[in-house]
Amino acid sequence: MSNQWRRYLFWFAHEHVDFRLAELDSILNLFNIKLKTIYKPKSDPYWIVELPSECAVQKIASRSISLRFCMELWGNSKDVDILHKNLRSKAEEIIKPYFSNDKSFKIIVETFCKHFTQNEKIQKIETFSYLPFQGTVKLKNPDTTLLYIEYYGLDPNAIPEKPYELFFGRWIADGQRDLIQKLSLKTRKFIGNTSMDPQLSLLMANQAQVKRGDIVLDPFVGTGSLLVAASHFGGYTFGTDIDFLMLHGRTRPSRITQKTRGEDESVASNMEQYGKGSYYLDVVVSDFSRPMWRSDMRVDSIITDPPYGIREATERVGTLKTHPVIEEHQAATHIPSKIVYGLPQIFQDLLNFSAKHLKVDGRLVCWFPLYRDHYSEGQLPNHPCLFLIGNSEQVLSKYTSRRLLTYKKIRDPLDGDAITSSNIVDFREKYFALGDETRKERRLKRAEERARNKEDWERSNRESTER
Ligand SMILES: C[S@@+](CC[C@H](N)C(=O)[O-])C[C@H]1O[C@@H](n2cnc3c(N)ncnc32)[C@H](O)[C@@H]1O
Repeated sequence: MSNQWRRYLFWFAHEHVDFRLAELDSILNLFNIKLKTIYKPKSDPYWIVELPSECAVQKIASRSISLRFCMELWGNSKDVDILHKNLRSKAEEIIKPYFSNDKSFKIIVETFCKHFTQNEKIQKIETFSYLPFQGTVKLKNPDTTLLYIEYYGLDPNAIPEKPYELFFGRWIADGQRDLIQKLSLKTRKFIGNTSMDPQLSLLMANQAQVKRGDIVLDPFVGTGSLLVAASHFGGYTFGTDIDFLMLHGRTRPSRITQKTRGEDESVASNMEQYGKGSYYLDVVVSDFSRPMWRSDMRVDSIITDPPYGIREATERVGTLKTHPVIEEHQAATHIPSKIVYGLPQIFQDLLNFSAKHLKVDGRLVCWFPLYRDHYSEGQLPNHPCLFLIGNSEQVLSKYTSRRLLTYKKIRDPLDGDAITSSNIVDFREKYFALGDETRKERRLKRAEERARNKEDWERSNRESTER
């Protein structure tokens, strides 16, 4: 493995584009890797970078969910003749060491946004016959895999005649996208309406820089999807949730094919299913607005998806009565009443809790829902002890999105340090207020349409009688 700065191509999945940079930054920082960016287009799915060693590339790929693969870039051009000319000039110096009698190899042709038959691909491979190949071709696990990529852009409705870019190089590693399939909700034992999909859960674990031996908390744990992802990277995980039925696997099943919950449906059984039982600490029924932890409890990271109040209730233990009294004979069986837990209050509590219970340098990774038209950075929750280092948008609809926020704890709180929630817009309130408006608009539109149809029908009736 070489130990000198070389040029690499990172190829990303064309999904969750806004998360790439934040994820890569977190991984680089986790492994303390320096990266020089040579070319980083805004929306195309590749970056050209320089890194100090192949080992650094392997480390990045060992964690990244956004990355499809990485290769050492031997040639790149918009013109096929120039690409071949460049490769010829490098053949002896860079390429030859990878070819000898005892080394097998294969060449893969990838074309983006344009389909080619296998024969056409073979013809493309043959144009590289001047390279100093010596060993045998081996399709499964060869010593060296070469990649030739033709990039035709991202718009399937405007595919150019010739590719925009050509790349040739040596494949080094794939990213961790196989995990998305491995942890799929389709095959997971215990899921609910709120289960977070594995791709986003894994991205969150990377944003939190979860590493072997870390202690990770999800205070709004639900079905525990975020614990599954964190444990995959070696985190010891625990969570809390106010919903007793959810934590005991007794809510209504969310799969339409299932009538009742299985006996063994639980967060713990999910962890067992993926062989991560030993990374599972526990889940506890608890109201986050009244944390039960010792004040000196510290965790390495907090990853969470707080309730927005759309699919699940946002509630906390409380009462609107001025002087509630619980008689002694009621105490043993009393179920506390609940009141609304507004989003500004949830985030105020979450940031204050994180400032207190995270280790210094530990990370809080959480989703924040908002209306896209009204978004401004000033609206995001902030706290003097937490520095916002990641902010990636996932668009949910024309009007709404949620942002994955990553905060790093920079110091312990002092007396009087606190988040101010005055500028946080209550997503739930707005959602239902605007939702009503939208419903009213839709009703009016339907009424107009019905009136138009009636007029058309009457007109055509008149016309046919006149004829
Ligand atoms: C968006 S869901 C989290 C889903 C979870 N990430 C999963 O994969 O299933 C929010 C969770 O917060 C819980 N919750 C609501 N109010 C709470 C409170 N006051 N304290 C603790 N949990 C609460 C809900 O019961 C719900 O399970």
